[in-house]
Amino acid sequence: MNILIIGGAGYIGSHVTREFLDLEHNCTVYDNLSSGLRENLFPEASFIHGDIHDYPHLLQTMKTGSFDALIHLAASKAAGESMIYPEKYSRNNIAGTINIINAASEAEIKRIVFSSSAAVYGEPQYLPIDEKHPAVPENYYGFTKLEIERILSWYEKLKGIRFGCLRYFNAAGYDVKGRIKGLEQNPANLIPIIMETACGKRNELQIFGDDYDTPDGTCIRDYIHVSDLAIGHTMTFDYICKNDKSLIINLGSETGSSVKEVLDTARKITEKPILSKIAGRRAGDPAKLTASAALARELIGWQARYSDMETLIKTSWIAYNGE
Ligand code: UFG
Repeated sequence: MNILIIGGAGYIGSHVTREFLDLEHNCTVYDNLSSGLRENLFPEASFIHGDIHDYPHLLQTMKTGSFDALIHLAASKAAGESMIYPEKYSRNNIAGTINIINAASEAEIKRIVFSSSAAVYGEPQYLPIDEKHPAVPENYYGFTKLEIERILSWYEKLKGIRFGCLRYFNAAGYDVKGRIKGLEQNPANLIPIIMETACGKRNELQIFGDDYDTPDGTCIRDYIHVSDLAIGHTMTFDYICKNDKSLIINLGSETGSSVKEVLDTARKITEKPILSKIAGRRAGDPAKLTASAALARELIGWQARYSDMETLIKTSWIAYNGE
């Protein structure tokens, strides 16, 4: 099938593209390379250098490609930054995505897989979080994702678009076969920051709070391997094709790891000291977040396979250390 992957040169996008290519789909990557990297492009996929804000170009691309589906992963994703620069998030994540959905509608592309986020839930009212949990985002980034989910639901009713919204928990790791080499620039997430510290690019890791109500006092998150996420996209695409239905599902490992546990595993695997110091709490961090992935299991038969902490850290270390 012909798949358009918008944001396919990015961290998650390149893994998703790899997975669709492995299943022998024809892939076209559309990316403005603002955070995506040329080295993440694969020779088997076509590449179009384009911007989601350029509606005529987007529409022309969609109209000429005979695409069976589009996967949309082009977004800004730093929750903290979204609270300081909401304009950037309105523009990239809402206005840019509306362009994509409108162009898809005009070009008669009826299937969309959208990168959503566990950030739509906000402060957890119970754990593990399932899809019935109230969606009350605590940051503007989460709001932008929820807004698009709602717009997609309207376009389903009004224009017959079928969509898959994938609510990622904490994406981490690198391709389990080591085929993706492009490293995220200025990462804001825990595991890449630990990797940069292990490599000597940073002096130390700041642990944002050790006085939370968790066994070791540091926050617990559900880390999900990016290769598992990528598989979730192809399985969602299959589901939409076979059932002609939309879905909204969590993609998470259903296990929680604390910041200290992640750091300990990283020290063991990298054999580097990885200096750390306890810093103050970061605003808006819930103590604990874990996913229920029961609905993903039930609907698309998906289950995390590579998301144990050792694999997450080992694959990251190979990408960062080149082993
Ligand atoms: N952390 C540190 N030091 C750092 C960076 C992070 O201690 O330098 C801690 C955070 O306080 C948090 C944990 O590590 O407890 C994970 O933080 P991340 O910034 O890696 O990830 P978040 O849980 O804040 O958010 C991530 C994505 C969001 C997504 C969310 C879903 O960045 O986009 O997971 O669970 F919505």
